[in-house]
Order: sequence, then C-alpha cells, then structure tokens
Amino acid sequence: MSILPELKDRFRRALVDLTDAPEEYLDLIRQSGDPKFGDYQANFAMPLGKKLGRPPRDVAAEIVGRLDVADFCRQPEIAGPGFINLRLKDDWLIRQLDTAAADPRLGVPQVPRPRTYVVDYSAPNVAKPMHVGHIRSTVIGDSLCRILKFLGHKVVSDNHIGDWGTQFGMIIYGYRNFLDADAYRDNPVEELARLYRLVRRLVDYHDGRRRLPELKEQIDQRAAAIEEQKLPPGEKPDKKTRKALRRLEGNLQQSRDELESLQRDLVAVDANPQISKLAAEHAEISSAVLSETARLHHGDEENLRLWKEFLPACEDEISRVYGRLDVTFDHTLGESFYNDRLGSIVDELLERGIAQESDGAICVFLEGEEVPMLVRKQDGAFLYATTDLAAIRYRMEAWAPDTVLYVVDHRQSLHFKLLFATARKLGYDKLELQHVSFGTVLGDDGTPFKARRGDTVGLESLLDEAVARAGKIVADNDDAKADGPELSQQQRAKVAETVGIAALKYADLSQNRTSDYVFSYDKMLAMNGNTATYMQYAYARVRSIFARGGVDVEALRASKPAIILGDPAERALGLEILRLSESLDLAAADYRPNQLTSYLFDLANRYSTFFERCHVLKAESEELSQSRMMLCDLTARTIRKGLELLGIDVVEKM
Ligand code: ARG
Repeated sequence: MSILPELKDRFRRALVDLTDAPEEYLDLIRQSGDPKFGDYQANFAMPLGKKLGRPPRDVAAEIVGRLDVADFCRQPEIAGPGFINLRLKDDWLIRQLDTAAADPRLGVPQVPRPRTYVVDYSAPNVAKPMHVGHIRSTVIGDSLCRILKFLGHKVVSDNHIGDWGTQFGMIIYGYRNFLDADAYRDNPVEELARLYRLVRRLVDYHDGRRRLPELKEQIDQRAAAIEEQKLPPGEKPDKKTRKALRRLEGNLQQSRDELESLQRDLVAVDANPQISKLAAEHAEISSAVLSETARLHHGDEENLRLWKEFLPACEDEISRVYGRLDVTFDHTLGESFYNDRLGSIVDELLERGIAQESDGAICVFLEGEEVPMLVRKQDGAFLYATTDLAAIRYRMEAWAPDTVLYVVDHRQSLHFKLLFATARKLGYDKLELQHVSFGTVLGDDGTPFKARRGDTVGLESLLDEAVARAGKIVADNDDAKADGPELSQQQRAKVAETVGIAALKYADLSQNRTSDYVFSYDKMLAMNGNTATYMQYAYARVRSIFARGGVDVEALRASKPAIILGDPAERALGLEILRLSESLDLAAADYRPNQLTSYLFDLANRYSTFFERCHVLKAESEELSQSRMMLCDLTARTIRKGLELLGIDVVEKM
C-alpha cells in the first residue's frame, strides 16, 4: 500500500460535502518535517476554513470526526491553528515492512488503470557530435520509461533521431570537396565529424559576413530609438518610460554582444591562412549545402547513396554512447522515416482548411499565437514541424498511445505548443501530448556548458572524464581501507566506469528538470551529499556489513525475522523504506525523476542515523540483530531498485 495516496483517499471521503474541489486541498497533505508533528500532516483546514468562513480548528475537528483511518493510523491530533497530525501505527508499519520484504516489487503496487505512453527522448542529430544537452534528454527519458513501466504502464520508447537534416547536405558537400580518403577509411566517424565541422565553419563564416552590415544597422537603429526616448536634461522620465528604456538598452546590448562574438569568429577565420583560403574558394558554400540537402530529400540517387553510406557510421557512434549509458530504445524511427509521409500531411491540412498559403509558404495559423506553424517552405521543403505531425499520426496508428512525452529542452517550447495545437485541429484531441521540458546545462561562468568556444564538448569525452575522475576516487578510497586495498586493477576500472557514469546521470536526474544547472565533476562525484556516489556508497556499506558478519542474506530473508521498531531511528528508517511507492507516484505525476532522487537521499540519511545509533551485528539481542539486518537488507534493496529506476547500477564494493 502506498501511504500518501491512501491518506488522500481517506481525506477525500471525509471532505465530501465540505468542498467540490478536494484535490487542491489534498495536495496539502505532506510528510511531516519534524517527527514531533507525526508522520504526515494535513494542512488544509486553514484555507478551507477561510473559504467556508469558519474557524479552521472547527473545520479540522469536523474532518477528523469523519476521517476513517483507524486501521493504520493512531487517533489524529489537531495542532496550532488547525493542522491535522497523523501518526502511523507501529504494528501496521511492521506488517507493511513484512510485505515489502517478501515482495520483489518491495510492496509497490501497480497502477489500476495502465496507460500507454510513447516516450520521445534523446533524439540527437546524427553526424553532428552529440553534446551535453543530449545527456539530459537521454537520462531523463530513460528514467521516466523505467519508472512508468515499473508502475505497470505500457511504454514505447522511440528515438526520433535527426538523420535527415542540413547536416547531411554539409557532409555531402564536404565529402565531395574536402575528403581525406585515408582518414575516412581508417575512422569514418572522425572524418565525417571533421568534414561537418569544417563545412559548418565555412558556412557560418559566409553567413556571418552577410549578417554583419545588417547587424550594424540594427545597432544604429536601436541606439537611435534610445536617443528618441531620452528627455531633455532636468526632466525625469516616468516609470513607463524608464521600463521602455531598460528594454531598449537590453536589446541594444544583445545586438552588441552578437556583433562582438561574430567579429571574433570572422577574425579567427581571416587569421587562419588555410581556412581563409578555403573560405575564399568556396564563397557559395551556403547555398550549395542547401541544394545538396534538397537533392537528398528529392531522392537524388547519388546523394541518397552517400547518405546510406554515412548513416551506419553515425549510428555506430551514438550506439556506443548508449551502450555506456545503458540506454536502449524500442524503436529508432528518425526523421528520414517520415520523408514520404510529409506531402500527404500538408495536403490534408490544406484540404481541411487547417493550413493556408502565405507568401508561397504553407502555414497553420493558430488562435492566440503570434507566429504560425510553418509546414512547407516557399521552395517546397518540409520542416521539422511537418515531420513531427507525421510522427504523431504514425505513432497513433502503430501504438495507439494515451500520452506522448517529448523530453526536449525548453528552447523548443514554442514548437511544441504550435505542434500540439495543430495536432488537436487534426483531430487528435483525446491524445495527451506533453512537452517534458528541461533547462540548460551551464558551465562555471553561467553560460551554456562548452569546453571551447564554438564547439560543445563531445558527449563521449564527458563520459571519459567522469570515469577518469571516479577512478581516482575509487583508488584513493581503496588504498585508504583499514585492512589494505581489496580491489584488483581490473575491478577498480570496472567500478570506476559504473561510478563515473552514475555520477553524471544522477547529477542530471537530481535537478529539478526545468532549472538550469551548473555542471561540476567535483560536485557530482562528492562522497557526501545528494550524489550517486553517496548512494552507491550507502549500498556498498550495507553489503559490506553482511560480508563482515558472514551473513547469508537469502537465509536471513527466508527466516522472516520479526521486525522491531523500538528505536526512533529504526522507526524512521522503516517508514522511509515504505515511502518508495509514493516517491514513484510523485515522479510519474509530473515526470520528475528528482522526486525519486530526493527520496533516495532521505532514505540514505535515515540509514546513516540508524547506523550511528543502532548496532547491527553487535545488537543487544539476537532478535534485535536479525531485525536490524532485515532493515539493512530492505534499505539496500530499496536503494538498488531506486537507482535501477534511474538507470544507475550499484557496486558491491567501492
Ligand atoms: N533532434 C532534435 C534536436 O536535437 C530533437 C528532436 C526531439 N523530438 C521531436 N519529436 N521533435 O534538437
């Protein structure tokens, strides 16, 4: 049984004729911050009393009078202005712990009404180096799949990779003009990446040259607009004018920053004789790249052949990363998969009057939206949004989901807003479409995390660095053991890989996904704090107690020793173990794996306190020792399960 949902159910019944909208009040039932106030607290008598125009304590008393929780709680208490404090019965807690101990699911129930979810995550643009932003999507999406599946839902994961975009036009152009055939033979991925970067740089250079006069003019205009707002000396601007001025100054600064960075990039190319020579020789590269892409999309044989030749190498590269991250997908239907379904979608949108022609392009105008959704460009090319519409249609036909989750960074929120609105117009109004958006990974300086200017770090070098640093921690830790090191070089390397990757994943998952966060190897690998390292260490510590005591865990479980919750630390730990289920409900409710990491952190802390206060192997009696070993085992199993649902492995020794 899941405690919080059960409490909500009981309160819902008690609230029946007090309110028509119980949910907002039920959301105010929480775990108590301080055991003095019981295990859970219902804090809604105050707002409800206000609404009803009655003293909150009276309202609380009435609710308590109606509340039926005697089977698992002691008599509820009313405190202060009307808090209702609930304390679970110890014998009930013990029964629940017995059930959890005997259950491979640790007592977590499956949902009564399973839904079908399609989860669209990771989705890198292949042939471009995968970057740190893709880690977020990959690990959050993977963890959501694991959690939803464990709760009993049907989950279809689909990696909507970008395998059809302009990057292929760039590589094809690069292949035709700059290929180093030997390098390509030895390491195609690396050579393709080099070609991509080179062509990209040349395209950016020429686009930048064209943008320069435009940008300078924009700066003049913005500066002039500010001058216009300024008042003659002595006159004070009012609040509105000040606000407008601040906005204009912000815009001006933005253009100036852009100009500065653009000029820096241009100077860098000009100063490099090799690159600037290439830039001069390939003055028309931008339009040439576009037409290579267009030829590919229209089925040009040679371009299609090259695309097919490049693709396996690109896929190899991302599979290697997925292998190390332990992430798999049910399907990888990339953008190219939808190529021959795009025309018919646009035709249908036109026929049904959902889309209109505007300046030669086809657009969907949506009520209340300033910008339309573009589904076909003037030159006939289809767009990202067109592919996404085709994907919704295909997914409905193939899997009939109740919900599609798009785990994609927040910069695409407008795209998804327009996409979802258009899908509703197409008739998908029963389908729940959710943008599970996330913030940016930042560097120390507060700007998006990059190793060097102009180039995000390749994802794999990030993994390598985390593993290398974990290796040092594992070695130091092992060397410092009282009885001497216990891991071989090989074991150390294996533990380091697990610990390093885990640290990286957990650092991401433990953030509230909508916030930006600062990337820091030191923080993510800290032995103390809300990190994977701390959790893995807590797990390994329990396992080492059993090893030291020569405890046969299977036999311990089979003997079903009675659990004793005499010490407050034992009780707190027992209660925390039972909260796994509610943490998963919270994580699934708004797609936030950090609900699970916070829970695991609380659990590990409760375990620490328990471990400091309560002897396990040397307990006062054999019964107590057995009971405590059961609590240790349940803690370890819960941590292991929790980490597994985050996509993180444990280690037996570290
Ligand atoms: N390839 C895109 C990018 O890297 C993300 C795709 C997300 N999924 C989708 N169905 N639009 O920005």
